[in-house]
Amino acid sequence: MKRILVTGGCGFIGSNFIRHELATYPELSIINLDKLTYAGNPENLADLANDPALAARYEFARGDICDREFLTGLLQPGGIDAVVHFAAESHVDRSILDSGPFVQTNIVGTQVLLDCCRQAGISRYVQVSTDEVYGSLGDDGKFTEETPLAPNSPYSASKTAADLLVRAYFHTFGFPAVTTRCSNNYGPYQFPEKLIPLFISNASQDQPLPVYGTGLNVRDWIHVLDHCRGIDAALRRGTPGEVYNFGGDCELTNLDLTYSLLEALGKPKTLIKYVADRPGHDHRYAIDATKAKRELDWEPQVTFREGLKQTVEWYQANTDWIARIKSGEYLSYYERQYGARL
Ligand code: NAD
Ligand code: DAU
Repeated sequence: MKRILVTGGCGFIGSNFIRHELATYPELSIINLDKLTYAGNPENLADLANDPALAARYEFARGDICDREFLTGLLQPGGIDAVVHFAAESHVDRSILDSGPFVQTNIVGTQVLLDCCRQAGISRYVQVSTDEVYGSLGDDGKFTEETPLAPNSPYSASKTAADLLVRAYFHTFGFPAVTTRCSNNYGPYQFPEKLIPLFISNASQDQPLPVYGTGLNVRDWIHVLDHCRGIDAALRRGTPGEVYNFGGDCELTNLDLTYSLLEALGKPKTLIKYVADRPGHDHRYAIDATKAKRELDWEPQVTFREGLKQTVEWYQANTDWIARIKSGEYLSYYERQYGARL
């Protein structure tokens, strides 16, 4: 595999994935296709420019996965060996306020991308999906790849629709797609609308931490680099047509997670503010990753204790990164770097 296209590489997981791939495979070059929505921040990969050996193998292309003409130009037959598809609207709360962009990017965008990849004869495609397609668990059990799809939010419904398109393209056309479904990621470069970076940022400034409902909803946390290693394993060793679950074997209530964050930051529990629950709030997610461990030779490597410590330290060391997002200044980075307007 010499040249891959990554979609959504200026977001949280995509940027971590690109850095990981370039560092791991010295022969690999990557094109990052990103629309630069509010969640896309090219600053997330600015450090690549400091290393000429990495920078020479990285290219950024600003564009929308819904733009068929643009994608056709990018995906010339024989030019790209594989596609890893991260680009999505990813925040559940935003999908509750307006599902339109979720249907457009997550469903229509995936369909357009699949068509263009097929036309270009792409030999491997990874659909980066989520455990939220399985819906919500009670207090027992875990999601396996056989768990029926039962999405509950507009976000997860749009991701499920995309997964079904991928499934259908494999069955109908023999399209060489692999699907991954992962639990909640944490780590550096996560947009501060999601629980962990939002709470670190708020607590650091002695601002309240808005815990939804009772705070007893459970998420299964995994370090972003363990997810990236899983996607890489699926890309290189996954069987076309198969789905692989990834999770960190680390279930926590939101309240317990919040206590851990406050302890790491040396801040008091009095910062916790209970607020109205998220409508349709999924009670519990938990992943059974036996298949990925068995078939892809994958294991999570980062313990939650160490991963959370490193993550808190990263946000503490990168307060400018958060400040530029909060002020909106990050939106002009592309303009300054590439001399073009957003
Ligand atoms: P993110 O919101 O941080 O990044 C999304 C990226 O996609 C941004 O750079 C954005 O600019 C880009 N994008 C959005 N619409 C686009 C379009 N129409 N064309 C091109 N680019 C577009 O998301 P993330 O948290 O990094 O998640 C990445 C993927 O992983 C998503 O598909 C998400 O569903 C999936 N996932 C996320 C998690 C998690 O915990 N964050 C867990 C499992 C799966
Ligand atoms: O499970 C994988 C999914 O994890 C991904 O597919 C999504 O893209 C990603 O955003 C994430 O979804 P969640 O909704 O689980 O993540 P979020 O960080 O938004 O919320 C985590 C939990 O914390 C959830 O139970 C809601 C709660 N929460 C969240 C926020 C932002 C709060 O209590 N207060 C908050 O302010």
